[in-house]
Amino acid sequence: MEVPFFSALRQHAALQRELESAFRRLLQNGIFILGEEVTTFEAAYAQYHGMPFCTSVANGLDAIFIALKSLHIGAGDEVLVPSHTCFATWLAVSRTGATPVPVEVNPIDFTIDVNLLEAAATSRTKAIIPVHLYGHPCDMRTIVVIARKHSWFVIEDNAQAQGAVCDGQLTGSWGDLSATSFYPTKNLGAWGDGGAILSREETHYHFHQAFRNYGSVIKDVHQLQGVNSRLDELQAGILNIKLKHLYHWNTQRLAHAQHYHQLLAGIGDLILPDLGDENHQPVFHLYVIQTTYRDRLKSYLQEQGIGTGIHYPTPIHLQEAYLNLGHKEGSFPIAEKLSKTILSLPIWPELQSAEIEKVASAIQTFFKHHL
Ligand SMILES: Cc1ncc(COP(=O)(O)O)c(C=O)c1O
Repeated sequence: MEVPFFSALRQHAALQRELESAFRRLLQNGIFILGEEVTTFEAAYAQYHGMPFCTSVANGLDAIFIALKSLHIGAGDEVLVPSHTCFATWLAVSRTGATPVPVEVNPIDFTIDVNLLEAAATSRTKAIIPVHLYGHPCDMRTIVVIARKHSWFVIEDNAQAQGAVCDGQLTGSWGDLSATSFYPTKNLGAWGDGGAILSREETHYHFHQAFRNYGSVIKDVHQLQGVNSRLDELQAGILNIKLKHLYHWNTQRLAHAQHYHQLLAGIGDLILPDLGDENHQPVFHLYVIQTTYRDRLKSYLQEQGIGTGIHYPTPIHLQEAYLNLGHKEGSFPIAEKLSKTILSLPIWPELQSAEIEKVASAIQTFFKHHL
């Protein structure tokens, strides 16, 4: 039995009839860009979060970038970002001309360490991007309090945590703005690229709606020099179907995480991810274990037909693209250590118990017989 790191095939089989009806609608109406599917999805995604406005865009990177642009963040400004995140979080900041200022993550759930925010800030700090990494909600209550005190904008990067809850409130609904990605492997994934921005201010919403479409909401009238970053009707149609299942899929992911926990507790030097609690409900976009034998374990699992991932193998401050910021080896020890020890195990909603047991038993065998 092979266990792929990710597969959408069982999900497609379960949703086949619903998906086919969306394709038929598209075939019949022949509208591909900024039609009814997009409008319906934007309303549904906003409502799901209890946020007034949603603008869909072409991907998660653009969602963060356009959110920052709507706050007039650019050259000379600084934005606090976690030391350990997807490359896109930092890239969206640099793309505006602003500087990403990394703040070390906490070693428990790998989200931005709220105790280090004020020390990292300067008079140029304009915003913070908390990233709900791997599906773990950041400490949003504290972040919002600190941000208000210093008049920083809060832009949540919710790409990995659609449906996660922090203190009774969904991630993506705490900040001034939030951005997400519908990359196919995400908890809410499309069949290609996609993203969205949630907002509470009408002025921001109007900016997003125009900016993603060459700066125009009325045909041939351009109020801004925007970009082309639109979610297409096919992706929106698929997301309209999938959004209804998100809660159930997240429940399945949590059950899988609990199952892994039972089976992996006490094995070798493994450190297991935080399962959260009532005030901090992760949605396990990824189930990330830590071991000093990471590379050997990964190869062993691969030989057993088990797919794994590393999110992420090189800390962003050591990537060639960001050497200009002047950070060095040793600047962010937690991010550096994580890059060497983390391993993401398969955790998609339709995974079967027997598959989780196979993964766990292979890990057990590795620590017993292959070290
Ligand atoms: C935390 C985070 N932020 C931003 C992004 C960027 O999203 P996209 O790949 O849709 O541009 C991703 C996904 O890849 C992500 O995981």
